[in-house]
Amino acid sequence: MWFAPESRLVDNMQYEYQPEPSLSKPDTILIVEDNKDVAESLAALIEECGCGSCTAFDGRSALRLVAQNSPDLILLDVNLPDVDGFTICAELKRNELTRLIPVIIITAFADRSAQLKSIQAGAEGYLQKPVDAEELNLRIQSLLRAKRLNDSLEPAESVIFALARMVEAKDEYTEGHLQRLATYASAIGARLNLSNIALTALRYGALLHDVGKVGIDETIIRKPGRLTIEEQYVMQQHTLIGERIVAPLRMAARVGPIVRHHHERWDGGGYPDGLAGHDIPLGARIVAVVDAFDAMTTQRPYNKILSYQAALERLWEGAGSAWDLDVVTVFAGWLADEGLVRSAVRPRRRSFS
Ligand SMILES: [Fe+2]
Repeated sequence: MWFAPESRLVDNMQYEYQPEPSLSKPDTILIVEDNKDVAESLAALIEECGCGSCTAFDGRSALRLVAQNSPDLILLDVNLPDVDGFTICAELKRNELTRLIPVIIITAFADRSAQLKSIQAGAEGYLQKPVDAEELNLRIQSLLRAKRLNDSLEPAESVIFALARMVEAKDEYTEGHLQRLATYASAIGARLNLSNIALTALRYGALLHDVGKVGIDETIIRKPGRLTIEEQYVMQQHTLIGERIVAPLRMAARVGPIVRHHHERWDGGGYPDGLAGHDIPLGARIVAVVDAFDAMTTQRPYNKILSYQAALERLWEGAGSAWDLDVVTVFAGWLADEGLVRSAVRPRRRSFS
């Protein structure tokens, strides 16, 4: 066989996951500023602070750069051509993968309401233009100190979420996939009246379900056509690798089963263990539904984009065989209440008699 056996793959993953010593890496600051001159002067100030920088000129590029580069701090202008800085900041703080990156919001006006909006959006700092070099330096140093402390307190968690970010960034077709899954899964979990801890585990499970793909050959992940039997075997290892990766999490006992079992099928035909029905952990049944839905409604190398309504109809077709009917029913209700689909009613099966 040309592929590595499972245990070998897992061992390789553990080797690859040793984080680099942070001492050798200068801190990188992302500047989000649409004015080129201002961005350049901020970059010069950052260099004086002994840090590196990169620049995004609009909000969407900023989110992409955060996903790809995981900066240590973000300087965020409020007035951007596409999305305002408060919205970007709030989005970063809602996302487990990015919420610990400190954000300093920079505004052009001495405005109390802008300051309050910055606090509301979760920003760690607020500065007015023109930026005072000394104040900027002090704020950067103090926020980077706090971040390093945070990182050292939660090394396992931050490394694991960084890996999830890497997996997402590796695949151009799945941008925003993890966050959408977390939103869908949380909505279902809330409707099922799950406890707060179960909801948090579900959110983590949604964000980390494919983290094991970090150990899978990229040519297999991106392959446009059908996978060979050998390639399928390799691909399936991502559930087991993922379970090992999330093992250091404090919530591993709840998150691990979601990661391991998110490709099980209700009828027992899935992997890795061929579990069926209610033997499949509820979180894994939820993630399986929302993962399939998001794959159908976003561009992938192997499918066309379906409308939300058409994707829901596919879910109905597979409910009771691929997916848990109860979970699909709850998800359909939420999609309809959000106005994302016309009808949440399960279509009647066609009769050929
Ligand atoms: Fe997966």
